[in-house]
Amino acid sequence: MTVLEVIQRSTEFLSRKGVDSPRLQAELLLAHVLRLQRMRLYLSFDRELTPAEQDAYRELVRRRGQREPLQHLVGSVCFCGLELAVNRQVLIPRPETELLAEAGWELLNRRAAAGAGSLRVLDWGTGSGCLAIAVAVHCPQAEITALDASSAALEVAAANVARHGLTPRVRLIQSDGFSSLGPAEKFDLILSNPPYIPTAEIAALQPEVRDFDPRCALDGGADGLDCYRRIAREACGHLRPGGQVALEFGDGQAEAVRRLLEEQKWIVEAVREDYTHRPRILIASQTLTNG
Ligand SMILES: C[S@@+](CC[C@H](N)C(=O)[O-])C[C@H]1O[C@@H](n2cnc3c(N)ncnc32)[C@H](O)[C@@H]1O
Repeated sequence: MTVLEVIQRSTEFLSRKGVDSPRLQAELLLAHVLRLQRMRLYLSFDRELTPAEQDAYRELVRRRGQREPLQHLVGSVCFCGLELAVNRQVLIPRPETELLAEAGWELLNRRAAAGAGSLRVLDWGTGSGCLAIAVAVHCPQAEITALDASSAALEVAAANVARHGLTPRVRLIQSDGFSSLGPAEKFDLILSNPPYIPTAEIAALQPEVRDFDPRCALDGGADGLDCYRRIAREACGHLRPGGQVALEFGDGQAEAVRRLLEEQKWIVEAVREDYTHRPRILIASQTLTNG
């Protein structure tokens, strides 16, 4: 069969299985099998696949039809232009989280420009390590502690940190919230994209998310806000003077997260929107900074 024929057949198959953007998914999987950039497929429509290529591709399309995420099938994701390994132990980093990473390195680079010496960052719930790694790459002065309750997630994060040559600057620790940090451990910036899905809503999520992202990366408790309560209560004890928190939250949670923080005497400095103009990131401090 030719490249064009297998793309057409697998597009129909994935469409029947309810996969979004089936043609794009079919092309991305084929490009992965053939080790080509996707656009090169368009110059190769008449090329015949070898039997080995057909077998490999058929297997990946079958798994995608069972709603296994594309990123798991190809083994990686691009986050802020950085390639990161992902598997079932970590949340697949989402495009909107790139905005949190960007907000993080902007806040830090502003401090660096104002003459701050070392900059210490905490990534609370690091998962694949995406936020820690992106911030370390974009802010050379930052020393990062990345924590997660999941040891399996930390193994993935460690491999990603090593892959980008950041092992000396990103310390990974297993910790349930702040519990493994000493009281003297203080940070200029605490970044987090914690689990925020209300427990009862998990069953209705897309199969790619519900069945393949780890439950501990999704489940935010009865109202989705458990981790924000912990962060609102405990983060102030781990901030350097003038330190800030930058948090991602779910669509529709902006007011509830703001309220939780304000109840704990945080000053909300900014709320930023995602690519669809929905508020998704909140920046707060204990004393007003110019962030
Ligand atoms: C939504 S995922 C975010 C992962 C990554 N930071 C990202 O943005 O893609 C939340 C992460 O928080 C971790 N987590 C959940 N509860 C935690 C807790 N109590 N203490 C530490 N980490 C926790 C999960 O294991 C998961 O890796």
